[in-house]
Amino acid sequence: MSEVKIALAKGRLEQLTLAAFQEIGIEFPDFTKDSRKLIFEDKNHQYQIVLVKASDVPTYVEKGAADIGIVGKDTLLENGADVFEVLDLGFGRCKFAVAGLPEQKNNQSSKLTVASKYPKVAKDYYHKKGISIETIKLNGSVELAPLIGLSDVIVDIVETGRTLKENGLEVLEDISEISARLVVNKASFKTKTDRIHSLIQDIESVIEKQTVS
Ligand code: PRP
Repeated sequence: MSEVKIALAKGRLEQLTLAAFQEIGIEFPDFTKDSRKLIFEDKNHQYQIVLVKASDVPTYVEKGAADIGIVGKDTLLENGADVFEVLDLGFGRCKFAVAGLPEQKNNQSSKLTVASKYPKVAKDYYHKKGISIETIKLNGSVELAPLIGLSDVIVDIVETGRTLKENGLEVLEDISEISARLVVNKASFKTKTDRIHSLIQDIESVIEKQTVS
């Protein structure tokens, strides 16, 4: 029987996901923090984790290179991949927000420039408000943009708020809550139904236990 392949977003979600798997008795002995390996097998040879860049997780799952993906809702909203989003894992909590210098709070400009790693999320948000914006796509250190005059504001994820605070920026508007999600390839959902369902149920029971305690 072939393994269930799980595409896991590199970075913040790695250790939290591994802890959740450990809780339901699935262990990946080779998975250590400083390893450079990208493929890991569980000790019972039932599951394989492939470590990929967060923004690529939906692609791996949509194309069927992975049966399951674990990735932030932020990436799913930006990517818009054709996958089943089946479970809110409840960890990796943060939010999407508009942020900028305090004086931008009442900026009513009809020519707002917004820098973001998430231009689609930014456009959708302002579109719903009936405001057209110019987006500037950046790949990191987005907080720099309003500080050096590249944009009026940013749309970004805020977790602890430290990055904003230490750069003299603040949240101007909340957009939406984010957490890690479990997504499934549409064909795998039919061909590996039993194993995927039981994995989902096991993870759900861990989440419930954590919510109760
Ligand atoms: C993310 C995000 C913010 C920061 C928010 O960036 O884009 O910059 O984390 O976290 P905080 O509210 O806890 O400070 P990331 O660390 O992924 O780095 P990047 O800027 O290189 O993308």
